[in-house]
Amino acid sequence: MQNHIKNICCIGAGYVGGPTMAVIANKCKNIQVNIVDINEKRINQWNSDDLNNLPIYEPGLAQIIKVSRGKNLHFSTQIKEKIEQADMIFISVNTPTKKSGVGAGKASDLKWVEACARQVANYSKGHTIVVEKSTLPVRTAEVIKSILEQSQVNSKYKSSTSTFDVLSNPEFLAEGSAIDDLINPDRVLIGGENENAIKLLNDIYLNWIPQEKILKTNIWSSELAKLTANAFLAQRISSINSIGALCEITGADIREVARAIGSDSRIGSKFLDSGPGFGGSCFKKDILNLVYLCEYFGIPEVGNFWNSVVTLNKWHQHRISKLITNKLYGTLSGKKLVILGFAFKKNTNDTRESSAIQICKDLLEEGAILHIHDPKVDPKQISQDLDLTPNENIKGSKEKGLEGSWFKVKSLDNVFNEADAVIVLTEWDEYSEIIWEEKASQMRSPAWVFDARSILEPRKVVDAGINFWRVGDGLDRSNNDA
Ligand code: NAD
Ligand code: UGA
Repeated sequence: MQNHIKNICCIGAGYVGGPTMAVIANKCKNIQVNIVDINEKRINQWNSDDLNNLPIYEPGLAQIIKVSRGKNLHFSTQIKEKIEQADMIFISVNTPTKKSGVGAGKASDLKWVEACARQVANYSKGHTIVVEKSTLPVRTAEVIKSILEQSQVNSKYKSSTSTFDVLSNPEFLAEGSAIDDLINPDRVLIGGENENAIKLLNDIYLNWIPQEKILKTNIWSSELAKLTANAFLAQRISSINSIGALCEITGADIREVARAIGSDSRIGSKFLDSGPGFGGSCFKKDILNLVYLCEYFGIPEVGNFWNSVVTLNKWHQHRISKLITNKLYGTLSGKKLVILGFAFKKNTNDTRESSAIQICKDLLEEGAILHIHDPKVDPKQISQDLDLTPNENIKGSKEKGLEGSWFKVKSLDNVFNEADAVIVLTEWDEYSEIIWEEKASQMRSPAWVFDARSILEPRKVVDAGINFWRVGDGLDRSNNDA
C-alpha cells in the first residue's frame, strides 16, 4: 500500500492542467509534477524563457511557473515516459460537445478521455491512481475503469501486473482568477471508492487546504456535482439577463433588482451581474451534456428545463445586436462600430463561446465595419472566431474598408475617429477609464455608447453628449436625461 505520492503526471496542458499542476507543484515541493500534451507548440510555449509567451494568460500564473518550472514542475511531450514514472495520473483533457454521431450537439465527446485511458492502460507500471480532472458525464469512471481493467487482461505492451484506482476530482476554478481559486478554493471534491486512494489525493491538497474544505462523496455524485454546479451558475446568469430585458421595458434597473434580491441570504449576491450573456468553454457544453443525460435516462422534462438556460442566453446575445441596429436607425451598413473587448470575461485571453463572437457576427451581417480591441486576445484568434480575416468582408471581397469587415485595434488612441458607436463587450478595467468628453468630438453624431457590461458611469458618457444604453437599464438615456 502506497504511503504518499511522489510522482504525478497530468495529461493535458490546457487552461486547467497548466495552472492546477503549477499550484500543486508550488505547494508540494516533494512531488515531481510532469504535465504532458500531444500539442508540441503548446508545450514549447509552457517551456518558453519569456514568461509573456505562456500559452494562457492568468494573473499570478507566470510567477508560480517561474518558481517551480525545471525544479519539480516539467512540461513535455514524452507521454509514455511520464506515465510510466507516475503513481498518480490526472486526466485533464478537453471534453467538447460531440459534433457528429449519437448525441451530436449535446453529448460530450469523450474520445480524448478514452485515448488517455488507453495510454495509461498501455504505459503505466505498478499501482496507479487515475484521477478524472476533466468535466465528465456522470458514470464516465465506469468507462475508464473498463478500459484499464481490459488492459490487465489483454495487453500487447506489457505484463498484466499493473493495477488501478479511479477517482473523480473535478475542477471548479474560473478563468481569470484561476490561481486565486486554486490556492483558496471554496471546496475540493473527491469522489471514489478506495479509501487509500482517496487519502493519498486528500493528503496532496492538505498541503495548503484545510481538511474541512475537502469534501468526499461517491464517484457518481462527484461527477454529477460538477455538471450541476456549472448548470446552477449559468442559470443565474440567464435568470438575471431575462429580468434585465424586462427592466429595459418597464423602467426598472437590473442592478437595483440584483441588489434587492441578492441581499436575501438564501439567494446571495454573487453571480448576478447582467452582461452580454455567458461565454466560456464550459457552461454551454456542460448544460448541453446534462440535457443529453436527462434525455438518455428518460427524463426529457428535466432536460428541457436546463436547455432553456442555453436558449435564453442565445436569445439575449441576438437581442443586444438587434437593439444596437435599431438604435442606429435600423441599418449598420458601412457604419464604424468600435468593439471594446472580445474575451469571454476580463483577465483572460480565452474567447471560447464568448458572446462577442455572436454579437460581432450579427453586426457584420448587418454590414457594420468593426474595429475590435482586446488587450489580451490575439487578432489571429478573432479571425478564427469570426471566420474572417481583417482584410476581407463577409461576402469574400478582399477590398479594405467594405461593409461587413473588421479591423484589429492595437491602441485606443485614435480608434474613436468617425465612429458611430462604441460597444463594450468585455469588462476590462481600462475601458472604465476612457474620458468620454475627449472622445465625443471625434465620433460621428449622433454618437452612441452601448455598455453591455455595466462598467461605465452613465453620467460621464451622457454629459459628453453621447447617447447611452446599458444592459438592463430601463431609463432612456438617449436624450441627455441621465
Ligand atoms: P484545453 O483544451 O485548454 O486543454 C486540453 C489539452 O489536452 C489540450 O492542450 C490537448 O492538446 C490535450 N490533449 C487532448 N488529448 C490528449 C491526449 N490523449 N494526450 C495528451 N494531451 C491531450 O481544455 P481545458 O480548458 O483545460 O479543459 C479541460 C477539462 O477541464 C475539460 O473537461 C473542461 O470542461 C474542464 N474544466 C475547464 C475549466 C476552464 O476554466 N477552462 C474549468 C474547470 C473544468
Ligand atoms: C465557470 C465556473 O465559474 C467555474 O467554477 C468552472 O470551473 C468553470 O466555468 C468550468 O467548468 O469551466 P469560467 O467560465 O471560467 O468559470 O468563468 P465565470 O466567471 O463563471 O464566467 C462565465 C461567463 O459568465 C462569463 O462570460 C462571464 O462574463 C459571465 N458572467 C459571470 C456574467 O455574465 N455575470 C456574472 O455575474 C458572472
